[in-house]
Amino acid sequence: MQLIDGLKVAKEIKSQISREVNDIVISGGKRPHLAAILVGHDGASETYVANKVKACEECGFESTLIRYEENVSQEELLEKIQELNNNCDIDGFIVQLPLPSHITERIVIEAINPNKDVDGFHPVNVGKMALGLPCLISATPNGIVTLLKYYGISTKGKKCVILGRSNIVGKPMALLMLQKSMGDATVTICHSHTSNLKEECRQADIIVSAIGQPHFVTADMVKEDAVVIDVGFTRIPDSTKKCGYHLCGDVDFDNVAPLCSFITPVPGGVGPMTICSLMQNTLQASKINH
Ligand code: GUN
Repeated sequence: MQLIDGLKVAKEIKSQISREVNDIVISGGKRPHLAAILVGHDGASETYVANKVKACEECGFESTLIRYEENVSQEELLEKIQELNNNCDIDGFIVQLPLPSHITERIVIEAINPNKDVDGFHPVNVGKMALGLPCLISATPNGIVTLLKYYGISTKGKKCVILGRSNIVGKPMALLMLQKSMGDATVTICHSHTSNLKEECRQADIIVSAIGQPHFVTADMVKEDAVVIDVGFTRIPDSTKKCGYHLCGDVDFDNVAPLCSFITPVPGGVGPMTICSLMQNTLQASKINH
């Protein structure tokens, strides 16, 4: 069994980006600039955004954090998005999700200029990705494909089972694994109403789990030498930890890992790669927009 070290791969890619940014700036080009909108004070969102700002520093990007209280109106948020769309200094921006329930995520995402949509959530980017056209690709699925390539894991013609059908991970992951130039795999998506989910998993060469249920993937669901990618990131209250919680993936790691050829840990697997892909998208957006 080999552990997939997302932290190590992300670090290497961020230092490559940093070198490229250095070269761009030295030759008179513009330093990439990412903005992030954070609404409210959700603990997980605060951590994600802080990590994104830190990654910008590591890559030599400028970053701007725009904060709103929980009760911000949708109108005010949409006005800020228009301002960022029109601001030539901002190459890309994200609106951290989830948003409070009085705001419609779909309307917010559709307001973002697709060329600045470094999360790859806008329907134009999702549609282009589905067609295999150049676009800004959703960060988590892109990070997972990067990890598989880095470790030389062959996906062509393999049976890949995706657990979860979210717009952020499950659906785009399935599209990327299906794409001839990316995964080139045979893809099955399982969800809460899949009747034979365990059996589907048992046949999989590659399992990508993105359902957010700790220890959902158990050893009896994984075949010998499978590749298991864990996107789960649930916070479990834990008074022995300084931060008051520990992170738990979707996979029963201790029992599943011995069966696998490759497996991602939580934390230190997919999480750092999501942020790394966001940095790659920001650099790409900066090239598109200038
Ligand atoms: N919330 C959880 N993951 C993400 C992400 O990748 N981007 C944004 N904007 N919000 C998220």
